[in-house]
Amino acid sequence: PRTFFFTRHGQSEYNTRGKIGGDSGLSPNGMEYARRLGKWAKERVCVVDGKEVPARLWTSTLRRTKETAQFIDHPTIEAKFDDGFQHDWIQMRPMARRNLDELYAGSCDGMTYKEIEDVFPEEFKARQSDKLAYRYPRGESYMDVILRLEPLAHEMERTREPIMIIGHQGILRILYAYFMGLKREDAPYVSIPLNHVLKLNPHAYGCKEERTCLLS
Ligand code: F6P
Repeated sequence: PRTFFFTRHGQSEYNTRGKIGGDSGLSPNGMEYARRLGKWAKERVCVVDGKEVPARLWTSTLRRTKETAQFIDHPTIEAKFDDGFQHDWIQMRPMARRNLDELYAGSCDGMTYKEIEDVFPEEFKARQSDKLAYRYPRGESYMDVILRLEPLAHEMERTREPIMIIGHQGILRILYAYFMGLKREDAPYVSIPLNHVLKLNPHAYGCKEERTCLLS
């Protein structure tokens, strides 16, 4: 079966201050997670059609995901599949993808939830009453994110090799809900904790899931 590994970036400087969005780097705790993830990835071997293949590695374009990827080796391995498609050498070189960037909070980017509640109380309430459809002023909604992730989800469905995504809370909620077959309304509330790797194996009747905590 196909394998997807999902992880949020390690704890960022903004995470430690309760701020949303931004483009901060990792905290010391986040760096420790990155190191552990590098070690963990080395020990992970996926076999496709009898061949060991490294996972494709996708990050967002934001610093915190790239820094989280920095200790993951990128070996090059030739893999040939009998599916009639031409496959190149597979490289585990990180690929930064803009559609994996976190849900953009527009005018609220860089604020804490408390600050948003104080400065934009109506916005705060509106988001609580419909988190899926709510669009931040000059920013995005979860519905917007669902649309921009659609091509990527389709690409994931077509890819034979395992894929590791180092992403963000909002983004991974949507991808997780998509592959687990959850209702859209539930997607914005899915729990995707920091410091965990989620392994998903989609199959004909659903999706098998395993969670590994690498740092507590
Ligand atoms: O706090 C981390 C974060 O990734 C923010 O950047 C983002 O706005 C938020 O999570 C998304 O979670 P929620 O939709 O629950 O606010």
